[in-house]
Amino acid sequence: MSLSQDATFVELKRHVEANEKDAQLLELFEKDPARFEKFTRLFATPDGDFLFDFSKNRITDESFQLLMRLAKSRGVEESRNAMFSAEKINFTENRAVLHVALRNRANRPILVDGKDVMPDVNRVLAHMKEFCNEIISGSWTGYTGKKITDVVNIGIGGSDLGPLMVTESLKNYQIGPNVHFVSNVDGTHVAEVTKKLNAETTLFIIASKTFTTQETITNAETAKEWFLAKAGDAGAVAKHFVALSTNVTKAVEFGIDEKNMFEFWDWVGGRYSLWSAIGLSIAVHIGFDNYEKLLDGAFSVDEHFVNTPLEKNIPVILAMIGVLYNNIYGAETHALLPYDQYMHRFAAYFQQGDMESNGKFVTRHGQRVDYSTGPIVWGEPGTNGQHAFYQLIHQGTRLIPADFIAPVKTLNPIRGGLHHQILLANFLAQTEALMKGKTAAVAEAELKSSGMSPESIAKILPHKVFEGNKPTTSIVLPVVTPFTLGALIAFYEHKIFVQGIIWDICSYDQWGVELGKQLAKVIQPELASADTVTSHDASTNGLIAFIKNNA
Ligand code: F6P
Repeated sequence: MSLSQDATFVELKRHVEANEKDAQLLELFEKDPARFEKFTRLFATPDGDFLFDFSKNRITDESFQLLMRLAKSRGVEESRNAMFSAEKINFTENRAVLHVALRNRANRPILVDGKDVMPDVNRVLAHMKEFCNEIISGSWTGYTGKKITDVVNIGIGGSDLGPLMVTESLKNYQIGPNVHFVSNVDGTHVAEVTKKLNAETTLFIIASKTFTTQETITNAETAKEWFLAKAGDAGAVAKHFVALSTNVTKAVEFGIDEKNMFEFWDWVGGRYSLWSAIGLSIAVHIGFDNYEKLLDGAFSVDEHFVNTPLEKNIPVILAMIGVLYNNIYGAETHALLPYDQYMHRFAAYFQQGDMESNGKFVTRHGQRVDYSTGPIVWGEPGTNGQHAFYQLIHQGTRLIPADFIAPVKTLNPIRGGLHHQILLANFLAQTEALMKGKTAAVAEAELKSSGMSPESIAKILPHKVFEGNKPTTSIVLPVVTPFTLGALIAFYEHKIFVQGIIWDICSYDQWGVELGKQLAKVIQPELASADTVTSHDASTNGLIAFIKNNA
């Protein structure tokens, strides 16, 4: 049934429109002294507790209960169980959705087409471990016998963003080689990265689920050319190129030695693949033990997601609050704002995770939706964002729900922790300011006490008012560790999953990126030929002509 017709959704919408649309967060706190306790959830990890503070969101006991009822009536629990029991919920590609099998640390059997996938998962993990140990210890050497000092991950989308975000986030745990990333087909990317490298001590990881992605294969060929120009011996390739893919045949055709192939399977979605062999660059960088802790962290959240009642289930709450803003308050975007420099690619990572999953306009039954689906996800680390785009969140005309994410402890307590204290003060101040705003009366009193004349006050006052009542979720993690990062990623993955169920869309395919790929293949030879191109619309023909005439 369409979300708009769902009786619980109709009830929720009616309730919010009649009773809560104009509710002020500050008043809700005044009315209910237990609001903070009521709308916070703790999540214990071996590295300390997470605190999720949902209390600065526009929810009340009533709307919260209705949101939980909606999760129930839309079948979130049944769908979750279907995912974990390997049903082919990615029905447009006839595949199971099993990134959870990759971090199934209990090793419970998971059957796909009657076959337990866990022995294969464990075999590849063992291969990754062996490889990491060889690289880190230096027993794996390059063609001149030297230890590997630099690893280049060549991939794009899910075969780049996850490893990039995690290696950046966990840089503090580095025990292996430096890791570099080449994703863009713009030759500048590979050229700039290889410029600094020594072929004798560099290893390339070609990461591509399909091993057919044009950008990745082009970059991989270029890297091979660069390497051969230095090494001069094709036999050296095996020591310097490994592949991560579901497509063994194509990887071998490229020249990868099959024993340097790390396999994964079609039931691993690209944007959920950092838990698979695609995580090799992470494991090499931080060591396999730390990589396992990342998996452990995600597994702990999988267990929470499966076993916790809806009203205590953190990914479910994150998701349902997002649904409230998206489908009732008309919010178009969702900001992810980590107050942690290590996590500077977190929003970019979940831009793919969320937007490629839930950017769909057709229901699972093939009808056009009559409600909005996935939000535009964006963000940058605080405090930098504060000095860039927060102005619009504070005083613009749009409602921008935002998740503020910060670790209690810093990994760099320099100057007696001064930096971190300032960072956290800003983290706290922003959500407070967004909620409280500043009334005209307060702004006027401030201007008066600064000695401003009544005429100037009259002119400036409207610009000094903050409406406030801007909703935020604060996510406080104990400290950025492999375990806590793994957990945090899994919270968001399951949030995306739950929202896809509420919106009744297939969150696991990405047909929307195909059309552009097809057209690019048509245009590339047209750019190469001397002929005038007339086969497109006037704009595209004109652009092609301009580029060719000015090349
Ligand atoms: O074009 C989108 C996409 O298919 C993503 O879903 C995927 O993560 C990325 O391309 C890379 O694909 P591959 O790993 O097959 O090279």
